[in-house]
Amino acid sequence: MSTEATETRSYPPSADLAASAHIDAARYDAMYAASVSDPDAFWGEHGKRIDWIKPYTKVSNASFQPGNVDIKWFEDGTLNVSANCIDRHLETRGDQTAIIFEPDDPNEAAQHITYTQLHGAVCRMANILEELGVRKGDRVVIYLPMIPEAAYAMLACARIGAIHSIVFAGFSSDALGARVNGSDAKVVITADTAPRGGRKTALKSNVDAALLHCKDSVKCLVVKRTGDQTTWIDGRDFDYNEMALEASDYCKPAEMNAEDPLFILYTSGSTGQPKGVVHCSGGYLVYASMTHQYTFDYHEGDVFWCTADVGWVTGHSYIVYGPLANGATTVMFEGVPTYPDASRFWQVCEKHKVNQFYTAPTALRALMGQGDSFVESCDLSSLRILGTVGEPINPEAWNWYNDVVGGGRCPIVDTWWQTETGGHMMTPLPGAHATKPGSAMKPFFGVHPVVLDPQSGEVIEGNDVEGVLCIDQSWPAQMRTVWGDHERFEKTYFSDYKGYYFAGDGCRRDADGDYWITGRVDDVINVSGHRMGTAEVESALVAHASVAEAAVVGYPHDIKGQGIYCYVTLMNNAEPSDELRKELRTWVRTEIGPIASPDLIQWAPGLPKTRSGKIMRRILRKIAENDYGALGDTSTLAEPAVVDDLIENRMNKV
Ligand code: WTA
Repeated sequence: MSTEATETRSYPPSADLAASAHIDAARYDAMYAASVSDPDAFWGEHGKRIDWIKPYTKVSNASFQPGNVDIKWFEDGTLNVSANCIDRHLETRGDQTAIIFEPDDPNEAAQHITYTQLHGAVCRMANILEELGVRKGDRVVIYLPMIPEAAYAMLACARIGAIHSIVFAGFSSDALGARVNGSDAKVVITADTAPRGGRKTALKSNVDAALLHCKDSVKCLVVKRTGDQTTWIDGRDFDYNEMALEASDYCKPAEMNAEDPLFILYTSGSTGQPKGVVHCSGGYLVYASMTHQYTFDYHEGDVFWCTADVGWVTGHSYIVYGPLANGATTVMFEGVPTYPDASRFWQVCEKHKVNQFYTAPTALRALMGQGDSFVESCDLSSLRILGTVGEPINPEAWNWYNDVVGGGRCPIVDTWWQTETGGHMMTPLPGAHATKPGSAMKPFFGVHPVVLDPQSGEVIEGNDVEGVLCIDQSWPAQMRTVWGDHERFEKTYFSDYKGYYFAGDGCRRDADGDYWITGRVDDVINVSGHRMGTAEVESALVAHASVAEAAVVGYPHDIKGQGIYCYVTLMNNAEPSDELRKELRTWVRTEIGPIASPDLIQWAPGLPKTRSGKIMRRILRKIAENDYGALGDTSTLAEPAVVDDLIENRMNKV
């Protein structure tokens, strides 16, 4: 979905909201100026928003120079992230709800877990992990549905200093196995089966299949979500519910350095296999909690709901760490927006009197298509702030969100950020900025965006300009490295435009100086808000015996934002057929997961290549987009006739 900056309307916050908000326009301007002119003074002060065991004396120490990229924040401070998210609230709000768990089935009772209960549950889980041999610095893979135990597991790792690596429960066993091996995890935490949208996913049996390809010593801790039968290997599989009955509900939080890793999260890039993004304890938590408070104008007592899954960074920062560090009540929803029907989101908002609601444009587009009655049947008067994340939002969806869901009362914060950035990088602040449909508006405190010319790498000054988006100074939640491969970290983010962090997105700065994200400029696509490397889908396809070669690109899709378009060249002995298409689709789902399921597969007798054998993706993208007029220069192609064949046989239906 391209976001043309054609919308010129802007929506200022109401006077009431501006007056009661943490940050109004004048305060934003003053704080922003201070944050970029003297970042150490700014963050030295704001770092104090969390509790430190040993206070830091150094603030930032960061270099973006290739060959020497090194990022540290608060490097001599010590803290414990779980104590910040739980223990420090016990005295003042022990009986307040920390987590509202809304199950997949609306007839199953919601759970309200207080901070005191959260403390007990996290300590028990931490003690269980220790019993299984997990120690400070060890890795734990979490492969759980959206149940409270997912948050317990994250915080339990943080409590004992273990590093969690969450694998989204929609990933296949192959993808899971690769991530268990990639981080050399000691334990995998999973559930028997996971209800979602009225159906069940067999998580434990996926783990069984994954562990066939992992070290024998890897243990599996199983949460009983449904009580469904699963296979059981004594000595390897452990019953969480049984062990929790015995485990002590006290566990002393480990003293961690600010720079000790908190988690690894695998994400897709433009080349090769997904990389393990590493986030550390101190800077990440400061930034997650500060962005949660200011972006959503969170106030004491608010009920905050982020509909993401904890398998993605959005769930890490804005379901668990940010809200809990702020002592908020955070909603965890196990289900999907359309089950039992398209009013589910709005029913949950009404039921739990949600004040801030944060979701992905793809969900809004799907719900918008179902008609307004599903929204209008619910009482949404508790909503104050709406948010979007993950992909550009088209003005139609923005306007629907604003008018129908928000009743024109609720500012929409369109938050641009990435797994790598740990927290919001650009977003309007609700009490400070007039929003524009489709614009991420302004940098957050401490973020200094620059627009570069993609060819020359020169900084483009002034307004009404477009280019690639880079950031020229570090912020506390910046990723520190790629797990086990610092060179890849430097190469991916700091080598194209030297001295800058290169985000991989293009952007426009409009005449007012506000930012519009125009989408990825690399081979990363965004399907239903899920980030995916086209290279991953290609390597899954070519692993099939009938496939000789494959090229994958994104194409505009009404609901998903982008769909997955595959050009496949078959082996000589393979016959193209609809059967084979189906088989390849299933194959990719097994290799990666349902989110990577190809939308369109076109048989390509040949792919457009340069004389040196490089696939010209630009051309394939244009064909997939149905934009033949703009194929550009094809003179360097080895066999120009290939293109005519591809155009003639372009797929336009599944
Ligand atoms: C895209 C998700 C436009 C962008 C938090 C980025 C967005 C990628 C927005 C990161 C937005 C995220 N407007 N595009 N508000 N938010 N993106 O790592 O292309 O899953 O680079 O992090 O999503 O995806 P990731």
